[in-house]
Amino acid sequence: MNTSITERYQQLIDEITEHNRRYYLDSHPIISDQEYDQLFAELKHIEEEHPRIISENSPTQSLVGQIAEGFEKVARQQPLLSLENSYDAGDLRSFDDRVKKVLLKHDITSRNYTVEPKFDGLSVELVYEDWELVQGITRGDGLVGEDVTQNVKTIRSLLPLTPPSSYVAHYPRSLHVRGEVMLAKSKLQALNQEREKAGLEPFSNTRNAASGSLKLLDSREVAKRGLSCFVYELLSSTFGTDSWDLKEEVTDLADFGLPTFKLTDQLFSSIEEVIAFCLNPETKKKLEQQDFDFDGLVVKVVGNAEENGASTSSLHDILGHTNHHPRWAIAYKFPAQQASTQILRVDFQVGRSWIITPVANLRPVQLSGAEISRASLHNFDFVKEKDIKLHDWVWVQRSGEVIPYITGVIKERRTGEEDLISAPLFCPSCQWPIVQEEMHYYCRNPHCPAQIKEKVLHFVSRNCLDISGIGESITEILMSQKLLQGIEDLYRLERPEVQIYLKKLPGFGEKKIFEILQGLEKSKTQPLWRILNGIGIPNIGTKLAKDLAQRLEEKKIKNLNEMIFWLTNEEFLLDIEGIGEKIQTSFSDFFANEEVKKMLEGLVRAGMKFEARSSVWNGDSLSEGSLPETTKASRYFSITWTFPISREKIKEALEKAGFQWVATPHKAVEFVLVGHDAGKKETIARELGLKIYDDWDEILRVFPDLKALELPLRASTTHGKENVQQQSLF
Ligand code: IVH
Repeated sequence: MNTSITERYQQLIDEITEHNRRYYLDSHPIISDQEYDQLFAELKHIEEEHPRIISENSPTQSLVGQIAEGFEKVARQQPLLSLENSYDAGDLRSFDDRVKKVLLKHDITSRNYTVEPKFDGLSVELVYEDWELVQGITRGDGLVGEDVTQNVKTIRSLLPLTPPSSYVAHYPRSLHVRGEVMLAKSKLQALNQEREKAGLEPFSNTRNAASGSLKLLDSREVAKRGLSCFVYELLSSTFGTDSWDLKEEVTDLADFGLPTFKLTDQLFSSIEEVIAFCLNPETKKKLEQQDFDFDGLVVKVVGNAEENGASTSSLHDILGHTNHHPRWAIAYKFPAQQASTQILRVDFQVGRSWIITPVANLRPVQLSGAEISRASLHNFDFVKEKDIKLHDWVWVQRSGEVIPYITGVIKERRTGEEDLISAPLFCPSCQWPIVQEEMHYYCRNPHCPAQIKEKVLHFVSRNCLDISGIGESITEILMSQKLLQGIEDLYRLERPEVQIYLKKLPGFGEKKIFEILQGLEKSKTQPLWRILNGIGIPNIGTKLAKDLAQRLEEKKIKNLNEMIFWLTNEEFLLDIEGIGEKIQTSFSDFFANEEVKKMLEGLVRAGMKFEARSSVWNGDSLSEGSLPETTKASRYFSITWTFPISREKIKEALEKAGFQWVATPHKAVEFVLVGHDAGKKETIARELGLKIYDDWDEILRVFPDLKALELPLRASTTHGKENVQQQSLF
C-alpha cells in the first residue's frame, strides 16, 4: 500500500482523536462540526477503499466520546446511541423507505411520525428511584459514562418527579430517561461577559458552555451557571409489583413532571407531511425565537394503535438499531449557524458618519445556508479586546437573518504567521489623513467618495426615504459620472436631460429610471421621521427619529428652518429621552456644518417637505396601509401650454381625482396633457415616450371630471391660443 495513504490514515486518526478530546473532555473544540465531519468522512473513505488498513484505534471502530477525569465511571447495560443525520428531503425519503421496508416484513403498511426539536446540548441519562433523582450519567464514550449526579441535581426542574396517581400505584423501582443539558442563550451572554472580565476564554456556544459547566468538579459552581435540562426519551423502567411496561403506556414524559419541550403535537402520517414541516422556514424561525439553541429536528417513528395496532415501543423493537443509531429515528439538521474560518484580509470601510470600520475578508464558509466571506470587526477596540489578528482562525456565527459576526479567535490554531490589525494612516478611499478621536478613527474629508456613497445608500434605504431602484452599483455609476456628490443630487435625476443621458449608461433601462423617479417623488412626501433618519444626523436611529418627529409635530413645524430651530434648541432636545449633552452638541455641530446646509437646501429645492404632519404620518407608518392614498399609488401627470380652460383648474380637478401634478414631465409621469402650441416640454415628453393627450375632446372623454369646468368657458372660446387666458403658473 501507498505510504502516503498509511501516513494520511494515521494522521487522520491522530487528528480526530485529538479533536474528540477537545470536544468531549475540554468542551472547547477548535474546529467546526462541518470540519470534523469532513475529516471523519475522509477517514471512513480510506477504510472503505482499503479495508485491510483498519486499525482498532480508529475512531470509526468505537462509539465516539471520551471520559473526563475526576468523575466516577459508570458502565451502562446498553450503549447510549447517537442519531443518524439528514440534511434534505431526499435523505428523509430514504429514511422513510428503510422504515417502510422493515415494517412491511411485519405486515405493517402504514407509518406515523412525530417531529421533536433537536436539543443542542449535552446528552445525559437520568435515573429516578421511587420518583427521586438518584443518578445523572453523561454519555462518556457511549458505554461508560461519567457520574455527574451532584451536578445534575443543581437543575431544579429535574427533582423530584410528580407523577399522576395512576402511575404511583404501580410503584416503579426505577426509571431511566434521557435528556439534554442546556444553557440558555441569555445565560451564555452573562457568563461570557464574566469570563472575559476574569481573563478567561469565552465559550463559543451554549453547547460547549453547558458541557463545560456540567463537567465542573465543584457542584456549587455548577449551580451558579443555572443549567437547564429537557427530557425526550424513556430508556427503561423496572417495577416492583408487576411486569408492567411503562414504555407501552407513556406518551408524554411531562405527565411525570419531567421538563419537556414540544414543538408540535401533530402526528404525521406520511414522510411528505414531515418534510413539509421540517423544511418550512417558520419551524426553524419558531425555534430560533426560543432562549435555547436547537440544531435541527428529530423525526421519530411512533405507533398508532388505531391504525395498525402497533405501539411505539413494539415498532422500535421491530426497527432495532445499528451500533451507532436507532433505525426508528433520524435527525434533520439545520444548516450550521456556527463555523470556523480564517481572516484572509482586512479592509477599512469609511462609513457615512466618517468612522473607519475594519472589515474582515474571510475564507468563504457555509453558515445558516449562505456563503459567508465578510464580517465586520466593528472598531479597533473590538479588535483589541478580542485579540483578533490578521490570518487568525475565528468562530463566525449567524442566526436567522442576522448579519454574521465573529464571536472569538481560535488561538490554538495560530501558527506565528499572524499580524496585528492596526488603523490605516490615510483614508483608503480619498487618502486624507485619518484622525483618532477616543475609540474611533475618522476620515474628515466631506467629499470622501466612500462616505458620499454610504450616505446615499442610507438615505434611500427602507427605514429612511425608501427609494427603491438605487443600490450600490447604481450609486457607484452615478458617482463615477459626477452626477452624485451628495444626497441632494439624487433629485437631479428628475431632470429630463439627465434621464436622457442616464439611458445611455449601463443598468439604466426605462423600467429602472421609472422606478427611481417614482421613489424620488414619493420621498418628498414621506413622514418627517424618515427624513430625520435619512439625512445623517449623528446618533439618530429609527426610534429616536420617530420620537423627535412626534415632538416636532407638537411644535407644528412647517419648514426646514423651524425644524433646525428646534433641533438645535438645548432645552427642547435635553427633554427627549435618549438625548444627553453629547448628542445635543452633535446635533448643533451637524446643522452648523456648511456641507449639511448645502445638502438640506438642495432637498428643499427638490421639493422635500420638512413638515410635521398628523401622527398617522409620523407614527408607525412603516406599513403601507397607513399611508395616504396619494403616496400609495402615485399617478403623476404634467400639463403644458394652453387649453380651453385654465391649467390651474385642470390641475385642481385632476388632483381631486387622485392624480399628482409635476411641473416637468419625467419617466414616472403617467400622462402629459399637451395643449396648443406646446414647446420644449412636449419634446421632452415625446422623447421619454410618455402617454400624450393632445386632443381636447379625447381629454374630456378620458377625464370626464374636466367637463364640469369646461362648459361655461367653451361656449365663449375656440380651441386657439389667442382666445385662451395664459397662466403664469406654468
Ligand atoms: S432521541 C437513542 N431526541 O442528539 C437515541 N435525541 O446528535 C435517541 N438529541 O445523541 C435520541 N434532541 O443526545 C433524541 N429530541 C431528541 C433529541 C436528541 C437532541 C441528541 C441526542 C443524540 C444527539 C445526536
